[in-house]
Amino acid sequence: MSSPTLNYKSIIPNLLGEQAFVYIAKARELARKGAKVISFGVGQPDIPTFDHIIDVAKKALDDKFTGYTETAGIPELREAIADYLNSRYSADVKPNEVIVTPGGKGAIFLAVSAYVSPGDEVIIPEPSYPAYPEVTKFIGAKPVFVPLKWLGSDGGFALDIELIRRSISPRTKLIVINNPQNPTGALFPPKQIDEIMEIAREHKIPVLVDEIYDNFVYDNSPFKSFISYSDWRDYVLYVNGFSKTFSMTGWRLGYLVIRKEVAEKLTRLAVNIWSCTVSFAQKAAVAAMKGDWGPVKEMIKIFEKRRDLIVSKLREVPGFEVWASKGAFYVFPRIKKVLEETGLSVEEFVEQILYNKYVVTLPGTAFPDKAGKEFIRLSFATSFEAIEEGISRLKEGVEELLSKSGR
Ligand SMILES: Cc1ncc(COP(=O)(O)O)c(C=O)c1O
Repeated sequence: MSSPTLNYKSIIPNLLGEQAFVYIAKARELARKGAKVISFGVGQPDIPTFDHIIDVAKKALDDKFTGYTETAGIPELREAIADYLNSRYSADVKPNEVIVTPGGKGAIFLAVSAYVSPGDEVIIPEPSYPAYPEVTKFIGAKPVFVPLKWLGSDGGFALDIELIRRSISPRTKLIVINNPQNPTGALFPPKQIDEIMEIAREHKIPVLVDEIYDNFVYDNSPFKSFISYSDWRDYVLYVNGFSKTFSMTGWRLGYLVIRKEVAEKLTRLAVNIWSCTVSFAQKAAVAAMKGDWGPVKEMIKIFEKRRDLIVSKLREVPGFEVWASKGAFYVFPRIKKVLEETGLSVEEFVEQILYNKYVVTLPGTAFPDKAGKEFIRLSFATSFEAIEEGISRLKEGVEELLSKSGR
């Protein structure tokens, strides 16, 4: 007997998963078969969570701090988050404007839910972190993708402010800005951040700001946080989290900063979905914020050196145009020439490198919509040795593909 058809929402089959997880599964399968796989796929620091944070979580467990907590987070954590933003960005965030969420993703979900309804439009610069368009689609709204400008291997990526302006329609309910940006490693200059804020004020459209990589900024580049504007409450839905800065991806802790009335209402949504975030992880997060930032600073210094190494090695790969990213921990080389000469799509290229050389990279198209179709993403959250060996193998792989193509 056949099973009955389930009437799930029609949007469900159209939702995309996160491609990074698909390629990581393929890599694991190869590794199980004995291949020595090197991965540039994963978006998390390879350095484990710092010991002083783990110790506090252990103590919280020993103290049996294991029950439900306040939905929006334990008071000392909301306060620690507000203090961090206020001292770092000269902001004036109050603890009751902070909601602690299960990862930055939880914060993105809450923010989009609060401002977007079916039929609305959300402006998303692309290539983009996939959660923004997928949550938008889930709500029944439409992602309006606005490609970033590619300024070549010296200039990198910039927001196309004019195109963003022209993409605004009466249905636009949200603009998304992720800075520093995944997947490109772009860091948008303060002037562009000011321009986005101007657009928000002029059109009365909120900006979903995701600054989860705010500590991963290289070359002493200037970084302007949206939370530093005195009128942030009117326009900014601010997402950040613990996953990247403190290498706490598995702890599932992020936060949304949003005006108080909305925070109160969204806390009611949160209680109906996740009740609260993990109790002892929250204690550890307080220690992360208030404790020694030395290890974070050390990690960023190491990442900057890795960025230098991966960029210089990638520049030796034929047909690659490589911009030295300024933020996050990704490089996003343009491989147009290689694709043209080999006749491969970017997905096919990535598969060839994975199966021929056991090196995991991600196709730019994993970051919707289509602006990434001539690019691949590599995470340099991995060891110097892995970068040396992995990019040498990648280079060999590209040379072999080019010599086989004989075009
Ligand atoms: C831009 C961006 N925002 C949010 C997240 C989600 O972070 P979390 O693991 O804290 O949910 C990520 C993770 O890769 C990200 O790259």
